Amino acid sequence: MALWTDRILPRLVDKSLSTGDVMKERERVCAGLAGQVIELGFGSGLNIEKYPPAVESVAAVEPSDVAWAMSADRRSASRTPITRSGLDGQALNESDGSFDAALSTFTLCTIPDVELALREVHRVLRPSGTFHFLEHGLAPEPGVVRWQHRMEPVQKAVAGGCHLSRDIPALVSDAGFEVTALDQRYLPGPKVGRPWTYVHSGTAVRR
Ligand SMILES: C[S@@+](CC[C@H](N)C(=O)[O-])C[C@H]1O[C@@H](n2cnc3c(N)ncnc32)[C@H](O)[C@@H]1O
Repeated sequence: MALWTDRILPRLVDKSLSTGDVMKERERVCAGLAGQVIELGFGSGLNIEKYPPAVESVAAVEPSDVAWAMSADRRSASRTPITRSGLDGQALNESDGSFDAALSTFTLCTIPDVELALREVHRVLRPSGTFHFLEHGLAPEPGVVRWQHRMEPVQKAVAGGCHLSRDIPALVSDAGFEVTALDQRYLPGPKVGRPWTYVHSGTAVRR
């Protein structure tokens, strides 16, 4: 299982989450990021090319050494200074109020204690700092939700702990943010993929 989780999964994630449709979503969610930014679950650095010029630096939180190594070329091609600041979104190393903005894409599904991680993001953001998120999660139709619950144990086992049915906007609000923009829809693709493709994309302000 370690071979699958540690070596193969980061490569599958990189391939499956770099399609044209997903890259457009990344561009949308990165718009407006500025100043000192923390990115949760940095992965292989697929967001780097979408950082706006107003981003001054990025603190990357990423537990996977393989994903971090995969991001090397993207990091060196970027004009944004990027440092690996930690390994776990549930226990950030930074002091309170040290960032202007935070970014999370397809990561809140995977972090085991997502409530704790969101409280940590809230803690390290300055007052009125913004949280930009692009996450798959709970769908609106009961039929799709039933499949999300059915498939969730399998998904967790094969996809590094990924949950299908997390209610992302509610989690973000409950952590002390005001959601100020929210776009919720299925990514393009066949209907059978709907348990996996409902995305919640938006920005929230630290209350
Ligand atoms: C599906 S991948 C998404 C990667 C990247 N954010 C992207 O959009 O391509 C989920 C990422 O969350 C990371 N992750 C898992 N547990 C984590 C934790 N406790 N704290 C921070 N990141 C975590 C994984 O290593 C992986 O890189």
